[in-house]
Amino acid sequence: MRIDSVDKMVHAIKTMQVRGAPLIGAAAAYGIALATLEDDSEAHALLVAEKLKNSRPTAVNLAWAVNRMLAVLQNTATQRNLAAWREAANIVNEDAAQNQAIGQHGLGLIKQSYQNQLIKNKPFNILTHCNAGWLATVDFGTALAPIYAAHDAGLNIHVWVDETRPRNQGAFLTAWELAQHGVPHTVITDNAGGHLMQQGAVDMVIVGADRVTATGDVCNKIGTYLKALAAFDNIVSGHRIPFYAAVPSPTIDWTMSDGLKEITIEERDSEEVTIIKGLAVDGSIQSVRVIPIESSAANPAFDVTPARLVTGIITEKGVFAPNALKAIAP
Ligand code: MRU
Repeated sequence: MRIDSVDKMVHAIKTMQVRGAPLIGAAAAYGIALATLEDDSEAHALLVAEKLKNSRPTAVNLAWAVNRMLAVLQNTATQRNLAAWREAANIVNEDAAQNQAIGQHGLGLIKQSYQNQLIKNKPFNILTHCNAGWLATVDFGTALAPIYAAHDAGLNIHVWVDETRPRNQGAFLTAWELAQHGVPHTVITDNAGGHLMQQGAVDMVIVGADRVTATGDVCNKIGTYLKALAAFDNIVSGHRIPFYAAVPSPTIDWTMSDGLKEITIEERDSEEVTIIKGLAVDGSIQSVRVIPIESSAANPAFDVTPARLVTGIITEKGVFAPNALKAIAP
């Protein structure tokens, strides 16, 4: 898909043609670069910045990237367009490098738990929610980066993929990514995770996030909180099932300390709930309504998992307990 105007970029982010916190950050950075092609003035950059920031409210990466681009432009008097493209490329390259490092830190955690398994040589089962793979970032992914690294290191891992209603990012995107990479996985309904945890079939939960507070509250795709609650309530290999969020540092909002009170949760169109899209037997994409025409639907897109339910945050700088995250504050 070619995105060659600010309006097309705003549309692509709003309608989720590009989605995932780090990727909409990188895309929005190019939105500002495109703005300088249309009109090189400071006023236009500020106007476009507001449009981009309002396109999706929850993932902090978007506002972070836009502000970073504005800061560069404010310090650049000539060749502003060149400076903007250069800074957008920096954001892109940094995201890939951060996610690769997350993969290595997460691999360390998986290896440790894998070796501590009470039953040896059984597959190590990781549950993930939504899509936090390379389709949601510039490259590698966040939650999926450790999974790819563990698989590539020869560990016997298997992934439970939550389908992630209403947009089914797990069923459509995560399952596809894992299949491309040859990682053993099974798609489950969003409600199956708790049951599988009670059966001892989940060794670890790893999710991505759209915003993490300085105190370690994790905001991620709707349904994440319920997985964290179930993990907290169940024991595997003598411990609560560990629940990790994997995030590059631009996903951490250092200005916030109470995720439940402070994070704006995006409310999306109810049609995403009432109408489901999928492949028909002839291979065409079809839409069908799944609730009665008389019923209304609500569609909060994210939820907040309080820090007390989070075992650790996997960042490019290492793995931190939620209350130790401040150690890497800028
Ligand atoms: O609404 P989406 O598809 O943009 O939501 C994506 C998620 O919730 C991801 O888990 C999150 O952005 C982390 S992406 C690496």
